[in-house]
Amino acid sequence: MKVLVVGGGSREHALCWALRQDPAVERIYAAPGNAGTALLADNLPIAADDIDSLAHQAQELRPDLTIVGPEAPLCAGIADTFGRHGLPVFGPTRRAARLEGSKVWTKELARRFGIPTAEAHSFDDPRQALAFSRRFPFPQVIKADGLASGKGVFIATDFAQARDAITSLMERRLYGSAGHRILVEAFLEGVELSAFALFDTRQYTILGFAHDYKRINDGDSGPNTGGMGAFLPSPLLSPSLVRQIEESIFSRLHAACIEEKLEYRGVLYAGLMVTEKGPFLLEINVRFGDPEAQVLLPSLRTPLSEIAQAVCRDELSGLRLVRHPRSVVGVVIASSGYPDNPRQGDRITLSDSPSSASGRQGVLFHGATKRNQGLLRTAGGRVFTAVGWGDRLSEARLHAYQEVDAVSFPGMHFRKDIASSLAGHPVAEPHEA
Ligand code: AMP
Ligand code: GLY
Repeated sequence: MKVLVVGGGSREHALCWALRQDPAVERIYAAPGNAGTALLADNLPIAADDIDSLAHQAQELRPDLTIVGPEAPLCAGIADTFGRHGLPVFGPTRRAARLEGSKVWTKELARRFGIPTAEAHSFDDPRQALAFSRRFPFPQVIKADGLASGKGVFIATDFAQARDAITSLMERRLYGSAGHRILVEAFLEGVELSAFALFDTRQYTILGFAHDYKRINDGDSGPNTGGMGAFLPSPLLSPSLVRQIEESIFSRLHAACIEEKLEYRGVLYAGLMVTEKGPFLLEINVRFGDPEAQVLLPSLRTPLSEIAQAVCRDELSGLRLVRHPRSVVGVVIASSGYPDNPRQGDRITLSDSPSSASGRQGVLFHGATKRNQGLLRTAGGRVFTAVGWGDRLSEARLHAYQEVDAVSFPGMHFRKDIASSLAGHPVAEPHEA
């Protein structure tokens, strides 16, 4: 079978890597891909959000399956356009992608379906937002309604910070129309967990859980990023927490998709805050997480094409998901200046990973890399995700950092505490905790 992967980050390299090991897959295309996907797939020079060109190319290539990495093409309706040409897409329709594309709409939907989420109020008038913020308890969270590449969320500890956030979003339009409407939301204390489920229009199946590290620096300091590392399994997970997440989050979200006729076929990523009162929904993403995908995919034994086809054909009920009983750790290597002003064009040197000799238990996923006249160079913020696995978390961590050691470029930056510290506490081996 032929598969098209849309996107060009480490997540998409991980998707190509999983497809490469899949006996049913003969040919992989990546649009636009990166220097890593070029080793596994035919890179097509088309931007991930250029839906017309993607559809045009796909009509010629006739992929049996298209897997979409980022949210922008989903929110712009790639699944609808491809669907009209009879091309199956793993990823929701435009209407369903609003679950990520509008935080205000999703907050209302969560409320209607009884999904636990923080109290929030929406505003499209900055004066009303400011007046409300002044009397709402602090800390509070100010969120742009629309897509802002993960940057439209501000935690304000006092009114001066809240005012800055509200005026930046609504008056200065820092993220354009994304800040036309905002939410002022109550702050929740707890540990964040990324939860993934496969949705088709008949049922859902839990895919897995991972922890993501959002801040740039060790000890969760510095600005928020797209994610600096991830690991699984989560030390937080108990059978009762999984049951709560199923009952209060995924089963209600799935019921909402059916009732609202959203035609959700793909992976749904629920960003959760696990609090003393149980799990709360922070946000929904209509795609795999990055870097969570880079640890989730190596934890699955069931071939990716089988998973995606079951979803696209509404046959999740017949899918038997098999996982590797392993720990997986991913460490993101970022360029100088990330996240605010990532430098591009630095020359990258790769040496053989120390674990590459035999029985390698790791892989280096490219993100923002490109090859120019034979030379490998950085091309954006998150340049690689170094991934390692093992029977124990400590082994997985060691293998991931061995993969990091193989990379060198000026200004490279990575966190040293992935999978060793979580929300300020040491991480215990999950199977022994
Ligand atoms: P979101 O895009 O809504 O997930 O927000 C981005 C990040 O902001 C989350 O990953 C959390 O770290 C933080 N955040 C969002 N909402 C809340 C909340 N209600 N309480 C505490 N932290 C939050
Ligand atoms: N790792 C967070 C995200 O993919 O949105």
